[in-house]
Amino acid sequence: MEKKEVAKTSEAEIAVHWKEEELFYPSTKFIAQANLTDEFVYDRFSLDNFPECFKEYADLLDWYKYWDTTLDTSDAPCWKWFVGGKINACYNCVDRHLEKNKNKAAIHWVPEPENERIQHLTYQELYVRINEFAALLRDFAGLKAGDRVTLHMPMVPELPITMLACARLGIIHSEVFGGFSGKACADRIVDSGSNVLITIDGYYRGGKLLDHKANADIAVEQAEKEGQTVDKVLVWQRYPGKNSSPTPMVDGRDYFVNDLLKDYRGKRIDPVPMPAEAPLFLMYTSGTTGKPKGCQHSTGGFLAYVAGTSKYIQDIHPEDVYWCMADIGWITGHSYIVYGPLALCASSVIFEGVPTYPDAGRAWRIAEELDVNIFHTAPTTIRALRKVGPDEPAKYNYHFKHMTTVGEPIEPEVWKWYHEVVGKGEAVIVDTWWQTENGGFLCSTVPALRAMKPGSAGPGVPGIHPIIYDDDGNEIKAGTGKAGNICIQNPWPGQFQTIWGDRDRYVSTYFEKYCKDKNSKNWRDWPYLAGDAAMLSKDGYFRILGRIDDVINVSGHRLGTKELESASLDVVEVAEAAVVPVADEIKGMVPDLYVSLRPGYDPSPELAAKISQSLCDSIGKIARPRKVWIVPDMPKTRSGKIMRRVLAAISNDKDVGDTTTLANPDIVDEIHKMSQDMIEELKESKKALMKE
Ligand code: WTA
Repeated sequence: MEKKEVAKTSEAEIAVHWKEEELFYPSTKFIAQANLTDEFVYDRFSLDNFPECFKEYADLLDWYKYWDTTLDTSDAPCWKWFVGGKINACYNCVDRHLEKNKNKAAIHWVPEPENERIQHLTYQELYVRINEFAALLRDFAGLKAGDRVTLHMPMVPELPITMLACARLGIIHSEVFGGFSGKACADRIVDSGSNVLITIDGYYRGGKLLDHKANADIAVEQAEKEGQTVDKVLVWQRYPGKNSSPTPMVDGRDYFVNDLLKDYRGKRIDPVPMPAEAPLFLMYTSGTTGKPKGCQHSTGGFLAYVAGTSKYIQDIHPEDVYWCMADIGWITGHSYIVYGPLALCASSVIFEGVPTYPDAGRAWRIAEELDVNIFHTAPTTIRALRKVGPDEPAKYNYHFKHMTTVGEPIEPEVWKWYHEVVGKGEAVIVDTWWQTENGGFLCSTVPALRAMKPGSAGPGVPGIHPIIYDDDGNEIKAGTGKAGNICIQNPWPGQFQTIWGDRDRYVSTYFEKYCKDKNSKNWRDWPYLAGDAAMLSKDGYFRILGRIDDVINVSGHRLGTKELESASLDVVEVAEAAVVPVADEIKGMVPDLYVSLRPGYDPSPELAAKISQSLCDSIGKIARPRKVWIVPDMPKTRSGKIMRRVLAAISNDKDVGDTTTLANPDIVDEIHKMSQDMIEELKESKKALMKE
């Protein structure tokens, strides 16, 4: 029998076999207009000039009061940037542009239904709407600086309006991705201690007007059970003046924003000068344990960092029409749809819907109609667009000068399609590696200074000094072909400040592994552990290989395996659960769920469907497993640990390796047999699809 490739335990090992790619160079036309063409930037931002080099980014902003200390390390590793400075993020993204650019479009909002016209909000209009809503937040909802408020909103202009109105008052916003369930929203309401929830009645997704208000009811009810009372639910309307949700409003708790706003017409609220290190927002992300982490981002440091990187890495000028297809409910949207582009006075496109709906040309029609020239998306979307319409972009008259990819490693052949077909061979590409925790880009080429290499993010961006360590803390040098744990040697202003309410988890997750001295106040002793495996080529380009912890990256959305497992355990029949990643052509990774049942229950397709649904209910549709395997027992080590490695091998049709050390090796054969049948089934259904 032919021996199959031995199971890979992490994405890292799989990817190390990628071959080194040729370099691609940007056009001279791009270089001639680029914001950053000065090779000395790397000297200016060298470790010798750290931390003062970041003054260059902070100087892109308007400060009420300049700071006295660039980097305060007294509470290491909770770094404080620009201490003593006073600033307002909303003022910097809106007010300061009015004098010269009040008539310029700040936001182009593209509704999903194509018969609804694109709405263009000028900076003046944005200013007015933010002020009126800020007045409502202050005077009706009773919110003030330092309070947390949870937002559960989709891709509508009211989302940045809400965020910026919060920022105007120093209220800490915590936006939960619109596609998340009411239960997931509840967990975040509880953790952040919000007593106001801001939502919308409905929105379009894939041709359907979804009832989103229903999620708010679930969220509030569930939060109450967990001990957090929400006393006001503010409901925006997808069509102002009309209710688009069949879910009734709760008297004395739920309010339509558009009704309330009538009382605040014409109101203007002075932006509140906030300390630079005051939190601007929380963004929850998955970790290795079930509980999501609330990454706390600062006002001055975050804004300086996203403004600087939007300018130098994304090459945004005020004349540009910039479209980032990510969702504002993720960090990419916060940093690079809202705060970064608006701080630079660009026009930012917000698209409500699915880029492949109603057909493969939709995205390119939007690009053509708005004359978008900077484009930003994730490999998962690029793969999907390529699958449904490989020749589509050529049919539309748009021209990108610059394109970003983010969120996952991009396969070189997908990169090349992005470059040749989407970018028409004209656009420069940046592959930006970073994380929710980081606020902004960590590794990327500076587009006019460094050539592109498909599949590699590139060197650290100016001011970021990555290093790869092996498990024992030895540096893995450039060009060795070995992978290790990528760390950043120095703090930077966009770095999150802590995990909301859990400083110990912040220290242990990100710093403990390589900390040189726990009592040290010197930043050199505290390298930041990103949690990704990476390797460094001879020419200084980092290739990111995937997560080293238990996180599955589905279509660029991070899901903790533990979160999924704990959701499936909510189903009474389930005794044990294990989630493993399966490689998927479009989504990168998808979860497979293995469960064993409690005694007295029998497996059935209905039960599998119920378990699958429970994951969607508690987390959201993106968590739907490819397959729920109801197995007689889990393969376990003698100490009782579930062997996920073995299950992952089976799911990915790889060799399971040595199982003799298991407590119950026979079970592996049984599961394997089940999987063979299922793989045959999948092949058959794929064939049938191809025929159609
Ligand atoms: C992965 C998204 C390869 C990585 C901004 C990281 C990437 C996780 C890239 C963070 C990239 C992000 N190349 N992998 N260019 N960008 N990742 O928090 O594993 O949603 O740790 O932030 O996505 O995902 P997050």
